[in-house]
Amino acid sequence: MSDKPEIVIQLKNVQKVYPTGGERVVALDDVSLEFEKGKVYCLLGVSGSGKSTLLNIIAGLEKPTKGEIVFKGHNIHKMSEKKLASFRQRYIGFVFQSYNLMPTLTALENTTLPLIFRKIPKRVRNKKAHQMLKAVGLGKRYRHKPSEMSGGQQQRVSIARAFVNNPQVVFADEPTGNLDTKTTQEMMDLILGMAKTHNQTLILVTHNLELSKYCDKVIHIRDGKIEKIDDVVAEKISIDEARADIDGPTEGDINE
Ligand SMILES: Nc1ncnc2c1ncn2[C@@H]1O[C@H](COP(=O)(O)OP(=O)(O)O)[C@@H](O)[C@H]1O
Ligand SMILES: [Mg+2]
Repeated sequence: MSDKPEIVIQLKNVQKVYPTGGERVVALDDVSLEFEKGKVYCLLGVSGSGKSTLLNIIAGLEKPTKGEIVFKGHNIHKMSEKKLASFRQRYIGFVFQSYNLMPTLTALENTTLPLIFRKIPKRVRNKKAHQMLKAVGLGKRYRHKPSEMSGGQQQRVSIARAFVNNPQVVFADEPTGNLDTKTTQEMMDLILGMAKTHNQTLILVTHNLELSKYCDKVIHIRDGKIEKIDDVVAEKISIDEARADIDGPTEGDINE
């Protein structure tokens, strides 16, 4: 057995330039990053810093202007749109700020969507989707449509949909941006619990510093550049060590 972490996604010198009008907007500037299996990452930065652009590029929703993205050994910057679509269905789950549920479908039907794309038989996908809805606390509301649910409940459905396929990586772009503090905490506990249980990589995009406490690593982004990466666990340990120092000498020290 080796303790070496498995790298799920690697970005090498990624640049994204938008040619808007006559002006070039450099949304990402020479970004190199690695994401490990089973870790929770927080992509933290103010509005306009490039968070969504970075997430869209990692997820293969947009192509970089320059650079490489290796995702589970696949060079996704070179993939055709068709291949990318099936790649996303196989490996990735998404949670969005605005839930992005289909308004005419029930909670159960919305949750089964990723399984339909993968051609899972109806009976199996209904059973899986129902299990997921139970896991997010909506077992009894599976027949409800989005308009018949609160924001928090809709986000629960979208979390069920993101995880139903057991994806390798889950992307969440400002998932609690429209929710109150209590619901935010419930959603974060739910998303994190699911990701940790199944050893999935979670990449959470937020401008809310508060949410960084839920993550293993915080990637600070500013003006399209990675400013710094904080290891949250290491910080917690160093705080404990600092406390031990402040607490003064131990018995052994006194006896000496
Ligand atoms: N499709 C686009 N066309 C032109 N400029 C864009 C486009 N998408 C994003 N940008 C610009 O790129 C920068 C980063 O945007 P974005 O990634 O959405 O930031 P964030 O998610 O951190 O708020 C901003 O200056 C934004 O205006
Ligand atoms: Mg954004």
